[in-house]
Amino acid sequence: MRLGSLPRARLANLPTPIQEMPNLSKKLGGPRIWVKRDDLTGLAFGGNKARKLEYLMGDAVAKKADVIVTGAGFHSNWCTQTAAAARKLGLDIVLVKNGPRDGWEPAEWDGNHLLHELMGAEIKVVRPEKFKAALDAEMDAQREAGRNPYFIPVGGSVPLGAAGYVNAMLETFNQSSEMGVDFDYVVHGTGSGGTQAGLVMGARALNSGTKVVGAAVGWTSK
Ligand SMILES: Cc1ncc(COP(=O)(O)O)c(C=O)c1O
Repeated sequence: MRLGSLPRARLANLPTPIQEMPNLSKKLGGPRIWVKRDDLTGLAFGGNKARKLEYLMGDAVAKKADVIVTGAGFHSNWCTQTAAAARKLGLDIVLVKNGPRDGWEPAEWDGNHLLHELMGAEIKVVRPEKFKAALDAEMDAQREAGRNPYFIPVGGSVPLGAAGYVNAMLETFNQSSEMGVDFDYVVHGTGSGGTQAGLVMGARALNSGTKVVGAAVGWTSK
């Protein structure tokens, strides 16, 4: 499949700049370090989710969805960026979020939860063990209500979401050619794996020799 043939909603400020970090490079006394500023993608403060959402939301719009169903932790950035993307495209959004008990509400609204409310997301809070079943039930309820819901798993880590980071690798490659710098490594945060899948696929497609190294942003107790 060709990347350019995928439906895409233009949601992010792209390309993001690449900036050299001379002080950090000097302090570490080793390689020259550059930062690809994906914190500047925009869409509710930016971050890596915006690129994934361009392809996921493009697909949702192409399938004529009218409501997005997704979820994650109570103060999740994923939920914030997905809510922003949905609202920007005129779609409703239901967020299923993990909490200490079903239907829990904090004494005060703050942080990302406040943003979810301000963006008009419908919010359902469930205990973590009920999370998956609650998402399935929400999809069924939306269909029964005559709507056309579009489901996106946590972090948007499905092939379509990863396409956003295939594109990021192409973007980085073009910028590196313009800058006259060959990057030996791309080092990035990895959680649900979608960002890494896209970067690895992009690096392979370009055959540029750039190695992709993911640093885990979370851990399991196993
Ligand atoms: C700043 C940052 N970078 C990268 C990631 C990992 O992205 P992915 O879920 O695609 O592995 C996360 C996920 O939580 C994150 O917060």
